Amino acid sequence: MSLQFRVLGSIAVLLVLSLLCGGTLLILHARSVVEVEVRTAFQGAENSVRDTLQSDVQHTVTMRQVVSSFEGQRHVRAALINEQEKVIVSSEIGRLKDPAPQWFARLMMPPPLSARFNIKLPQYPCVVELTSDPRSEIADVWDHASDAFVAMLLFCAATMTAVSLAVAYALRFFRRFQTGLLAISDGGYDARLDAKGPPEFVALAQGFNHMAGRLKTFSESNQRLQQQIQNVQEEERSGIARDLHDEVGPYLFAIQVDANILAKSAEPQTRSMGTAIRDAALHVQTHVKEILRQLRPVSSLDFGLEPAIADLIAFWARRHPDIRFERTITATPGLDRRGEDAVYRIVQESLSNAVRHGRPTRIEIVIADQTDRVMVSVTDDGGGLKQDLPGGMSLGQMGLMGMQERLSMLGGHMTVEGGRGVSIRAFLPKVRELEIA
Ligand SMILES: Nc1ncnc2c1ncn2[C@@H]1O[C@H](COP(=O)(O)OP(=O)(O)OP(=O)(O)O)[C@@H](O)[C@H]1O
Ligand SMILES: [Mg+2]
Repeated sequence: MSLQFRVLGSIAVLLVLSLLCGGTLLILHARSVVEVEVRTAFQGAENSVRDTLQSDVQHTVTMRQVVSSFEGQRHVRAALINEQEKVIVSSEIGRLKDPAPQWFARLMMPPPLSARFNIKLPQYPCVVELTSDPRSEIADVWDHASDAFVAMLLFCAATMTAVSLAVAYALRFFRRFQTGLLAISDGGYDARLDAKGPPEFVALAQGFNHMAGRLKTFSESNQRLQQQIQNVQEEERSGIARDLHDEVGPYLFAIQVDANILAKSAEPQTRSMGTAIRDAALHVQTHVKEILRQLRPVSSLDFGLEPAIADLIAFWARRHPDIRFERTITATPGLDRRGEDAVYRIVQESLSNAVRHGRPTRIEIVIADQTDRVMVSVTDDGGGLKQDLPGGMSLGQMGLMGMQERLSMLGGHMTVEGGRGVSIRAFLPKVRELEIA
C-alpha cells in the first residue's frame, strides 16, 4: 500500500470518526433542546388554562374561547371533550414549514405530555384536554442540525484537500529523490536535485548533491588509476616483448643459419647434428613467437569494432549454420580502445554463452550510441538462464563475472535477464577528457 494512500486513508478515517462523534453530540444536544422547549411550552399552557378556570367557568362559550386561544400554537394542542368523550372543538398546531425526515423525528421525539381539566358546569359538564406536539420544534432543530452537519462536511472536505496537496507536494520531492538515487546506482553521478522548497527538503537535496559530487570524484580518480595501471602494464609488456625480440631474435636466426651450414656438411654425423640444432632452434623460435604474441597481441580490433564483431559472428555461424545472427551496430564515437575491447569481449562471451548454454535459433546483437554512453545487448531465444542444456561446457562460470569486472573498471554496468532466452545488456560511459596524471 503506497505511503500517500496510507496517510490520506488514516486522515480520512479520523475525519469520519470526528464527523460521527460530532453528529452524535449534535443529536444528543438537539434532543434535550426539543424536550426542554416542549415541556416549558406545555407547562406554560397548563398554567394559563388553570388560571382561566379559576376565574370564570360559568359558560361553555368561555371554554370554547380557551380552546381557540391555542389555535396556531407551536407546541401544545387543546380540545374540549363532552361527557361521552366526544371532541366538541379542538385547536390546530401552527403550520409546519418543512417537516423533519421521519428517522430524525423518531430520534428527537420526547415523551408525550397531556393534561385534563374537568369542568363541572351544571348543565354542561366537560373536559379541557391539553396535549404536547413536538413536530414544529423538531422541524426547527432539523433545520439547524442539517446546516451544522453540512458545515462540518465542508470543513472535512477542505481539510482532506489541503492534506492531499501537502502530501502530494512532499511525495513529489521524494519521487525526485528516488529517481536521483536510481541514477546514482546506475553510475549516473551527474544527477543533481534542485535545492528548493521547505528547509528539510533543501537539506536532503544538498546532502544528495554532495554525495553525488563525491562519488563522481571517486569514480573519476578510480578510472584514472585503472587507466594508469593498464598503461604501466602495457608499457612493461611492450618493453619485455621488445627486449625478447631484439636480444633473442638475432641469436636464434644466427643459430639457424649456422645449423643450416652444418646440415649441409659432407660429414653425416655433423649433418645430423646440424639438423638437430636447426630443429631445436625452430622449436625455440615458435615458442618465442607465441610468447611475443601474448605480450603484444595482434587484435582483430586493429581493424575496427564492426569488422571484429562480424568476424565473431562468422566464427559461430560457420559452426552453427542453423542459428540466425542479426546485428545492428551504430557508430560508437567516444569509446577508446579499452572501451572497444570491453564491447568486443562482452559480445564474444555472450555469443559463446548463448551458443553453449541456450541452444537458440536466433541471436541479436545491438550496439547503440546513447548520447553519453554506449549500449551493447546480446539477446537469444534459447532455453533461458535456468535451463542449462546438455552440451554446455563451462570453464568455471567466470564469463559473466569477467564482463562485470571489465565494465566496472570503465565505470559501466550490466543487466542479465532470463526468461524465454537470455538478454545481456551492458552500458559503457563514453570517455571524457580525463587528465591523466
Ligand atoms: N545465453 C545463455 N543461455 C542460457 N544460460 C546462460 C546464458 N548465459 C549464461 N547462462 C548461464 O549462466 C551461467 C554463468 O555463465 P558464465 O559465462 O559466467 O559461466 P560459464 O559460461 O558456465 O563458464 P565460463 O564462461 O567461465 O566458461 C552459465 O553456466 C549458464 O548456466
Ligand atoms: Mg561463459
